[in-house]
Amino acid sequence: MKPIQVGLLGIGTVGSGTFNVLERNQDEIRRRAGRGIEIAMVADLDTARARSVVGDKAKVVGDAREIIANPDIDVVVELIGGYGIAKALVLEAIAAGKHVVTANKALLAVHGTEIFKAAAEKGVIVAFEAAVAGGIPIIKALREGLTANEIQWVAGIINGTTNFILSEMRDKGLDFDVVLKEAQRLGYAEADPTFDIEGVDAAHKATLISAIAFGIPVQFDKAYVEGITKLSAADIRYAEQLGYRIKLLGITKRADKGIELRVHPSLVPAKRLIANVEGAMNAVVVHGDAVGATLYYGKGAGSEPTASAVIADLVDIARLHDADPAHRVPPLAFQSHTLGAAGK
Ligand code: NDP
Ligand code: HSE
Repeated sequence: MKPIQVGLLGIGTVGSGTFNVLERNQDEIRRRAGRGIEIAMVADLDTARARSVVGDKAKVVGDAREIIANPDIDVVVELIGGYGIAKALVLEAIAAGKHVVTANKALLAVHGTEIFKAAAEKGVIVAFEAAVAGGIPIIKALREGLTANEIQWVAGIINGTTNFILSEMRDKGLDFDVVLKEAQRLGYAEADPTFDIEGVDAAHKATLISAIAFGIPVQFDKAYVEGITKLSAADIRYAEQLGYRIKLLGITKRADKGIELRVHPSLVPAKRLIANVEGAMNAVVVHGDAVGATLYYGKGAGSEPTASAVIADLVDIARLHDADPAHRVPPLAFQSHTLGAAGK
């Protein structure tokens, strides 16, 4: 079968990881996907840096629209980030009949309804495993592994940067600003790190989890959002003395008045598994009526962990590409529920 042709928009932290992992594991990935997956074109503002990553293995362009205009490209992978140009490019790619893979939780949490609707109308797939909890396959778990369940609640550590900051402040007594700089250096933080430290990134992810778990539209504006910027080293120390750890949790659950959706620092008893999730690791607990509590743990940020999720989506698309669009899993189940007062 002809290899699937991929165009990569943005080859920074996640883009370069995606290229490198696909190269390194190409034989295994081909076997699993049933066909090859080739990054044929790469667009980045810095074409020289892009060339230094891909060498002569892919065509490098400075204008992402060259990729969208190319009829040979089957899938566009958006790894630019943000709501601006990324939104326009994703909608243009869908309009051009291309499947889209994105790690851009900000874009989907805010404009997901418009994007998923456009994809459904065009019969293409928008896949976003990498947008939530980095390398942990939580979207797949919710959609597939737990599909028999009525989901009752989901709660977890879904931002690596803030968990890294809280861990380093507690264990090494380092200052907030010092640890944030280190998280940026390690490629964990968002381009605008206020999204991480103010809880916005976690709320973007919780919004997507909530939409999938409860079959509701993406409604980021209904989320309660509080980050870690008001916490001091003393708060962390006192919590420790009382037998707790402070964790920034994303929580979404069924409540009497609707679906709750919130992100805020929480006191977690020190003996709980989730209290012992350290550094940039993420952990998500999903509670279903049949299965009870299930726990998903792994690297929530970084180049190759996130690439692992991007490539999983590419493999799914490679398997489904030739299927009748009517038999493809829809991007999100749209239902008429709305978030209740508890949402905010
Ligand atoms: P980076 O900033 O490292 O990479 C983005 C790349 O896109 C940069 O090389 C940037 O170039 C390039 N770019 C900017 N504008 C354009 C454009 N118009 N056309 C083509 N390329 C462009 O970001 P990340 O790789 O960290 O993040 C990418 C996405 O993945 C974001 O949505 C992020 O939220 C998400 N994500 C990131 C994770 C991580 O651990 N880093 C984990 C999970 C998701 P330049 O640098 O010159 O601006
Ligand atoms: N900035 C994000 C984090 C990247 O720290 O979790 C992964 O989504």
